Amino acid sequence: MDSSQRDLASALVEHIEIGVIILDSALRIEYWNTFISQCSGKLLQQARRQPLTSIFPEADTPRLSKMVAQVREHGRHVYTQWRDDPYLIQLPLSVCGQPAPLMLQSTLLFPFTGADGQQRFGLLLYDTTEFARSNEQLDAALNTLSSKQIEQEQLLNKLEKANAQLLQSEKLAAIGQLAAGVAHEINNPIGYVFSNLKTLAGYVHDLLRIIDAVDGAASLDELRQLKRSLEYDYIRNDVEALISESEDGIERVKKIITALKDFSHIEEEQFRLADLHRGVDTTLNVVNNELKYKAEVIKEYGQLPAVECIPSQINQVMMNLLVNAAHAIEQFGRITLRSGHEGEWVWLEVEDTGKGIAPQLLNRIYEPFFTTKPVGKGTGLGLSLSYNIVQKHHGRIEVHSEVDKGSRFRIWLPVCQPPALQPGNAV
Ligand SMILES: Nc1ncnc2c1ncn2[C@@H]1O[C@H](COP(=O)(O)OP(=O)(O)OP(=O)(O)O)[C@@H](O)[C@H]1O
Ligand SMILES: [Mg+2]
Repeated sequence: MDSSQRDLASALVEHIEIGVIILDSALRIEYWNTFISQCSGKLLQQARRQPLTSIFPEADTPRLSKMVAQVREHGRHVYTQWRDDPYLIQLPLSVCGQPAPLMLQSTLLFPFTGADGQQRFGLLLYDTTEFARSNEQLDAALNTLSSKQIEQEQLLNKLEKANAQLLQSEKLAAIGQLAAGVAHEINNPIGYVFSNLKTLAGYVHDLLRIIDAVDGAASLDELRQLKRSLEYDYIRNDVEALISESEDGIERVKKIITALKDFSHIEEEQFRLADLHRGVDTTLNVVNNELKYKAEVIKEYGQLPAVECIPSQINQVMMNLLVNAAHAIEQFGRITLRSGHEGEWVWLEVEDTGKGIAPQLLNRIYEPFFTTKPVGKGTGLGLSLSYNIVQKHHGRIEVHSEVDKGSRFRIWLPVCQPPALQPGNAV
């Protein structure tokens, strides 16, 4: 370094708003810059060769000793932020242009060797008030963030609980709806089987009278007369009709009961291989009461492999889609059920010729409690529940809808569940 460079360096040290103190190896003051003189109100001439701690007794702290020991032992720069003890040496006066005395000091103590080969220490003192302030803001922001995170976790927990309750209550609602439909469905055939039985009892009574008369009859004509008066020919025809109608009725009740048995595996929460078509047919039987006055149901099934699923839950999804389809049809329409298989995936589709869904509502239909139905008619849970179920099956729901034309809901399900999530993954 030539003399002009040296002049530049010392001008810089004199002007910089950082305290610079040079100490000899025994921690005696050799030099300090103008900043220290101005802020401490002490004169360098009087301080020279005096120990730092006698000029600045407040610096005589365990912390300074520790810093010095570290620098001596390891020859390293030691940096401290005097956050808790705001200063190493007191600098109570403010430099002109500085807003306030330098109070919250950070320090840097480092060893160096002078041109004369002597070991020395450089001690730099600078203000970190601003830094500390922004740090505090950062800390506060971090605290807020972490408390927000805790809140969010709690909220998530609550949501999960609510979701489980929702599933439970929707199950109950579905069972209620089912029970009402089933009662109606069974009532009808039971009604006519019962009335047929009554008529048949009357016929049997008349027939027995004819047969009993055989023994006591004086002539064949008398018997013929009785037969005619009891309208035997009519009875003969009607008996067959009544019996076949009653058999149909009983058959219908049997079908409903089988469907119910299948459907009511509602507590079953295990993934297992299932025939989806059988599930859809069962569901159709259960909701037939809702559908038959609203639509003709057309099945266009493809070939499906056995699919790993929780069958009762997939039935529930299909039931929601079918009931929604029926509700969307104002007079009488068509509901088409389709299925298909593509690689690792299968799909089930319910298409209706109902009123469709307005485009701006399409992204709201899966929201819990979103319904366009009158109070008391829809809970708005059907699709949100279906969405949940399909998601738990690692599948997805697609919807395509045109106002006044109809809607098509398609659920995609993987044929096999991902290995880690296999059996017993309850929804
Ligand atoms: N096939 C469809 N055609 C037209 N709109 C539909 C159809 N499916 C669903 N939607 C619309 O989406 C809304 C939400 O359906 P979701 O099944 O979740 O509830 P909901 O049928 O109103 O009531 P819930 O099923 O609980 O009795 C319905 O109110 C309706 O506006
Ligand atoms: Mg619904």
